[in-house]
Amino acid sequence: MPTLTEKKPQRPATRAHGRPLPELIFGDLWEFDPAPETADPKLKARYDLFIGGKFVAPSGGKYFDAINPANEQKIAEIAQANAADVDAAYAAAKKAFDTTWGKMPGRERAKYIFRIARLLQDRAREFAVAETMDGGKPIKEARDFDVPMAAAHFFYHAGWADKLDYVAPGRNVAPLGVVGQVIPWNFPLLMLAWKLAPALAMGNCIVIKPAETTSITALKLAEIFQDAGLPAGVINIVTGFGDTGAAVMGHPTAAKVAFTGSTEVGKIIMRSLAGTDKKMTMELGGKAANIVFDDAPIDQAVEGVVNGIFFNQGHVCCAGSRLLVHEPIAAMFLAKLKTRIRTLRVGDPLDKNTDIGAINSREQLKRIETLVAAGVKEGAEIFQPSCKLPTKGYYYRPTIFSGVSMSHRIAREEIFGPVLSVLTFRTLDEAVEKANNTAYGLSAGVWTDKGSRILKMSTELKAGVVWANTYNKFDPTSPFGGYKESGFGREGGRQGLLDYCKLV
Ligand code: NAI
Ligand code: MG
Repeated sequence: MPTLTEKKPQRPATRAHGRPLPELIFGDLWEFDPAPETADPKLKARYDLFIGGKFVAPSGGKYFDAINPANEQKIAEIAQANAADVDAAYAAAKKAFDTTWGKMPGRERAKYIFRIARLLQDRAREFAVAETMDGGKPIKEARDFDVPMAAAHFFYHAGWADKLDYVAPGRNVAPLGVVGQVIPWNFPLLMLAWKLAPALAMGNCIVIKPAETTSITALKLAEIFQDAGLPAGVINIVTGFGDTGAAVMGHPTAAKVAFTGSTEVGKIIMRSLAGTDKKMTMELGGKAANIVFDDAPIDQAVEGVVNGIFFNQGHVCCAGSRLLVHEPIAAMFLAKLKTRIRTLRVGDPLDKNTDIGAINSREQLKRIETLVAAGVKEGAEIFQPSCKLPTKGYYYRPTIFSGVSMSHRIAREEIFGPVLSVLTFRTLDEAVEKANNTAYGLSAGVWTDKGSRILKMSTELKAGVVWANTYNKFDPTSPFGGYKESGFGREGGRQGLLDYCKLV
């Protein structure tokens, strides 16, 4: 039976454009039987560091817990690398670069990268379940997005490895040597693939550190490197916290460092490396605007806005965390959005029906709560559906703030949670002005029927990616990266490869 969960709210008074107001549906969320994914994630009780092609115990003997944020249970132990371990990882990478990988023809390197991609596809379900258990994202995302996209990145870059003469027409390219990489917890396996695949194709060797809350799929991928026969030391994985990350970024052997994470840490790294000759790329935060004009395909736009912010619990640097909606349709659009988010299923990430899984960590949940409290205090109007949340684990209801102004913290700061701030605009210029009025510039979305308006907006918006009549679409061929405090350098496509080579 459908359950009535809410009192019927007032209908909005305005009738936009003479269109009928959307049907508000209440209590229409049918309970489904649980549909848990059952594939065995094949977790080890304890994960060591992956250095020189082997799993090795951390020299300090320390391990930390990997927690499943959906139920707060410990699922494995992860080695904590210290500076000596990072040294060993760089030494292994340097040796591999000098003796095997750096000398190997691209067409030979390609075979290994193709093999990694295929082995990942073979074990796709197992990886999807491990990713969901370690990070909290819904299984349908891990299964349909993270794992296939990670494999796609390896396939795409494997295809480049024997065609590097075409990366910079008229110039020759050469690998940089050893590169250091640090990645965040929102797309653990996918960010790993984004970082590793272009570096490998170019002939570099790697030391990489996953985020402390999501190390497992990286270490599972190390099993695949072994199965693929990847020469020892080409990829080294050191796990640990911020200090381990700092040791990876600051190591003298690193010819280039690549970081994805918070703007705050990105600035710390940039400051610490100023004056060195290391190459750097940074992919940092975002505060993207989804801009909906009155001629947009409305239902499609509602889906796009929902996907833009509630996808992966809003743990997305390019999340459409601000909605800029054209004033004539604002009331109608907001009503439709509220109706839609009432039907989102929040809960067990392993359930195939779940739309919104667990927040990645207790710290992140607290950060979201703090910013939402600030929004309420500053006078924005909050809407949250009254869905039931599991009693154990870290969960947050999808949240919409309306009546937001540009000075509110929720309009300026990255929340990194399922929280949408709604603002309105009257003219195209006002939309551009508001969308660009942020320290960030990673992505934006435009919803309109008019092609010329899309072209105009994509020129005016200061964002690395502008999606038109869609959102959160990715492809290994298309470069991704930011303007302003969202960072610099590109990942994906030919541009991404250029960031892992020198021109000779
Ligand atoms: P963070 O930037 O601290 O963590 C990202 C990675 O950097 C992790 O692997 C971490 O261990 C490492 N790290 C931390 N301190 C470091 C240092 N001094 N040197 C080198 N590496 C270091 O992000 P955190 O604390 O997990 O999240 C805080 C906020 O950052 C989030 O609420 C969100 O707003 C934003 N964020 C943005 C991401 C993005 O993709 N743009 C990803 C993760 C977080
Ligand atoms: Mg941090």
